[in-house]
Amino acid sequence: MISLFGSHVGNEELESVKNSFDNQWLGIGNKCTEFEKQISDKINSNFVFLNSGSNSLIMALRLLNLPEGSEVILPSFTWIACANAVLLNKLVPRFCDVEKNSCNMRPQDVAAKITKKTSAIMVVHYAGKPVDMDGMKQFGLPIVEDAAHSIDSFYKGKHLGTIGEVGIFSFDAVKNITTGEGGGIISNNQEHINLAKKLRYCGISKSGFQSSSDKNRWWEYEITDSFPKMLNTDIAASIGLVQLKKLPSFQEHRRKLWKIYSDILQKEEWANNWLLIPPGEDKDEQHSFFTYCLKLRFGHRDNLARFLFNNGVYSSLRFHPLHMNPIYRSEDKLENSEWLNEVGLNIPLHHRLTEEDVYKIIDLLKDFRIKHV
Ligand SMILES: Cc1ncc(COP(=O)(O)O)c(C=O)c1O
Repeated sequence: MISLFGSHVGNEELESVKNSFDNQWLGIGNKCTEFEKQISDKINSNFVFLNSGSNSLIMALRLLNLPEGSEVILPSFTWIACANAVLLNKLVPRFCDVEKNSCNMRPQDVAAKITKKTSAIMVVHYAGKPVDMDGMKQFGLPIVEDAAHSIDSFYKGKHLGTIGEVGIFSFDAVKNITTGEGGGIISNNQEHINLAKKLRYCGISKSGFQSSSDKNRWWEYEITDSFPKMLNTDIAASIGLVQLKKLPSFQEHRRKLWKIYSDILQKEEWANNWLLIPPGEDKDEQHSFFTYCLKLRFGHRDNLARFLFNNGVYSSLRFHPLHMNPIYRSEDKLENSEWLNEVGLNIPLHHRLTEEDVYKIIDLLKDFRIKHV
């Protein structure tokens, strides 16, 4: 079976983890600090390592300290943790539609949702394709940037995640680089960074020898906030440090596979009037090519998914619109998100996928188009 997503880890990661075992240092330590430093250098901002992208979203909104009950505008076509983070911060999600092809929110979609109660915007750079950040900034509202898919994406020279007030990354098992589970906070504001480092350890501000003026009571700590524990480990950072070194070659591979899909599906007649392919890079931007989402102009998407599955290829749809789920169900009509729910299909794209796999998938698409549509 050809999988939809996938990691690529090997002996270098194993050796790196072994080194933490040899040192008997498994929790947060020097490797987490080094991972934070290397990511901060890469993105030219500050990064705090946490245990997931989902938790990073909770932290991101906490850092903004928004008024209780105020509204955060976010896409419905995104991962559930985006809306959960809003609720868990005692805020109200206000779902917004996305553009059909990029699956990104556009400034005009957001403008229509702004009310007196709006306190922030959460943008999601779908697949690592940049949202129009200049357009989003014109509203003058704080922006949380979900850059979970965007570890190698730039917008007008700036790394995604560094353009809004706070950004987040994800390093879960299927992202462009992985730490098993993992994520983190990005901010240019040192106060956010200091607070994030305090909050991630249950809100303990000082501990050990820093904790009290009495140097004989190093077991006391000073608690000034309450927050869930979101620390990550040196085991995870061991993997992440090796993955970061591999990132350029990973990205080269993703870019090559993306191009094969796009070149053929754009050029061939059986495909180009049937499938809408996701946008690549525009001028002044860099894409991370996290996932490849096709949209069918006609024919039955569910049948195509089943056909691919029966022929050894796993596909799926990312995402199931949040406003269509019981917990967030709303009367709002989000036309494009609902359209994507019917016609969108993500096909395999990852580091372990080969060029032969991609050609096989394209042949299957052609077969389906000719025989079943
Ligand atoms: C857009 C988006 N945001 C946030 C997350 C959460 O990341 P994590 O899996 O590290 O919790 C994901 C995960 O897939 C995602 O796709």
